[in-house]
Amino acid sequence: MDIALRPLLIEDAASIVAAEDDETVRWFSGGRSTVEGTRAYIGRLCEDAAAGSPKRAFGIWGDGECVGTIDYDPDVTDALDPGDVNISYGVAPWARGQGVASRAVVLLCEFLEGRDVGRRAAIRADTRNPASARVAQKAGFEELREARSTEEAGEDGVPVVFRVFVRPFAGQRQSCAS
Ligand SMILES: CC(C)(COP(=O)(O)OP(=O)(O)OC[C@H]1O[C@@H](n2cnc3c(N)ncnc32)[C@H](O)[C@@H]1OP(=O)(O)O)[C@@H](O)C(=O)NCCC(=O)NCCS
Repeated sequence: MDIALRPLLIEDAASIVAAEDDETVRWFSGGRSTVEGTRAYIGRLCEDAAAGSPKRAFGIWGDGECVGTIDYDPDVTDALDPGDVNISYGVAPWARGQGVASRAVVLLCEFLEGRDVGRRAAIRADTRNPASARVAQKAGFEELREARSTEEAGEDGVPVVFRVFVRPFAGQRQSCAS
């Protein structure tokens, strides 16, 4: 599949909702979406960006179809170090297992390189979500540590534990472990 990223547009809302399943809700979106709610969410993202928020979200396009979303947010600090740029993603169930997420992560890292957003990309994969950890590994990230969340807890109230993966931006590769 030929993969490309495009900034999310309000008209992508229906595709995003159609691409959602229980896994997306559990690990990525945090709740069932509606088209109206997603349109409002994308509108808020645009307003926040105009007001100075550094978070950006993209549609993942595969062969001309929106098959997922990916975003970056330098303001996420939970379990991360200063300069880390958190990346999260979700892929439609019918498009999984074909390298879509790992390709999208690589494309996003390339997009971020040279932009003054931070010193490295970071992925926090819940220890119960091996598919997400595998995406980070396939995208060339190095596993840094496990870290207990100070903001997120599971259904049982126990804090989430993340596997933290990082990939320095070009020109900063030697500083991975620092
Ligand atoms: C995680 C997710 C984005 C992966 O998307 P994808 O397009 O299938 O990812 P890729 O094809 O690039 O890679 C997935 C890898 O995970 C592996 N994988 C999938 N399920 C797995 C599991 N239960 N245990 C271990 N590995 C698993 C796949 O085999 C593949 O690795 P391989 O190529 O070495 O075989 C997708 O499953 C998803 O949307 N899940 C719900 C949302 C989510 O978990 N988001 C992550 C939040 S950061």
